[in-house]
Formats: sequence, C-alpha cells, structure tokens
Amino acid sequence: MSTHGTAAHHRLPDLPPLVRRALEVARAHGFEHSCHPEQGLLIRALAGGAAGLIGESGTGCGVGLAWLASGAAPGVRLVSVERDPARAAVAAEVFADQPQVRVLCADWTELYEHGPFDLLVLDGGGQGKGIEPPADPARLLSPQGTLVMDDFTPSPGWPPLHEGRPDTARLHWLEHPALRAVEVRLAPDLSSVVATLRGQAGSARDT
Ligand SMILES: C[S@@+](CC[C@H](N)C(=O)[O-])C[C@H]1O[C@@H](n2cnc3c(N)ncnc32)[C@H](O)[C@@H]1O
Repeated sequence: MSTHGTAAHHRLPDLPPLVRRALEVARAHGFEHSCHPEQGLLIRALAGGAAGLIGESGTGCGVGLAWLASGAAPGVRLVSVERDPARAAVAAEVFADQPQVRVLCADWTELYEHGPFDLLVLDGGGQGKGIEPPADPARLLSPQGTLVMDDFTPSPGWPPLHEGRPDTARLHWLEHPALRAVEVRLAPDLSSVVATLRGQAGSARDT
C-alpha cells in the first residue's frame, strides 16, 4: 500500500485541478495511502491512450482516479470501486461535476460487471497480494487493454523479492501467460507493473 502517497504530492508544483481537489479531501480525512505522484503521472499518460473505458480498484479518496480523469480524452468513461463506504462517499463528491466518472461502493470484483477496460489500474483488490485471488486480465481487459499495478519495491536481482522472499504477487503478473508485462521503476523505492494482453495464437501480437 502507498504509505505516504498523499503527502508525497507536495513535491509536484503544478497539479491538475481535480488532483488538487482529491488531495484536499484525502488530507481532510487523514487518508495517507493515495497513489504516489510518480504513479499519478504514469497513469495520467496511459489514460490518454484509452479509447472508451477506464477502471480502477480501490478508489481511496480519489487521487489516482483524478490523475486518470485528468489524462482521459473527452468521451472516455471511468469506473472506480471502493469497498469502504465513507471513502467511496467522499470520493464520489470529488467527481460530482464529472459525469464521465463513477465511484461505486463495492468489492473490487464488481469491476467484472463493468468491463472490459482499455486501461485498468488495480490499487485495492485484484493484485493477488496476500490471500486474495488475483484478477483475471482476460475477462477484464479489452484486446488492446493495459493493466497497471503499483506499490512494488524495486528489487535488484531475479526473482524479485518482498521481505526477503520471492515476491509471488509480482511474479504472478510478470510471468502471466496471457500477458506481456514489464516492471517500471518510478522512484528509487517504487515500481509498477504495466501489462498488455498477448494476442490470439498466430496473430502478430502473439510473440
Ligand atoms: C492504496 S489505497 C487506494 C488509493 C487510491 N487508488 C489513490 O490513488 O488515491 C487502497 C484502497 O483500496 C480499498 N480496497 C482494499 N481492498 C478492496 C477490495 N477488495 N475492494 C474494493 N476496495 C478495496 C481500500 O479501502 C483503500 O481505500
């Protein structure tokens, strides 16, 4: 989980207005676990490539969702799912004047009812960390879709380690047979996994 993502935003001077609004709400509610600004910059750029629908698990107070909405082209819709009712309510307020954005109060698996997504950010459920089952990218992504997960600690060797042991959640995504996945280091202490679906057998993308 992003322990100080909310506070870390003070490093960036020119934040998009929606991100500023979500940060004010996060601070007012004492929510420290917003995404890091480096992740925000990454997902804002990726949102610009989405054609129709963007999804997110774990809305928090809406900071990551605000980065996504700030990068999305007109006409692109965004759906984010948060299981904590109080956080879902304040996040929905942040986007009250953004009709293209929906915040749902539910378990992340509700996303299966709303996809497939051109861009899917897993930030609260679906990452396969701990005992929860990981999301199924083949069901959730459109054929050209991109999956992003953050909050990994860069690891110098292979396999990547977490608390001294092979990081099974990260390995799940990096070695997933349906995905072409890469780990991107965003800061000395932060990396994200970005993945796209492999094509059907025999297609140009199936390599
Ligand atoms: C790291 S925070 C999300 C930060 C947010 N994406 C942002 O960038 O500001 C994780 C959030 O996921 C929510 N969450 C955890 N497990 C969940 C689940 N199974 N379904 C829905 N939300 C979940 C938590 O309540 C928490 O608000």
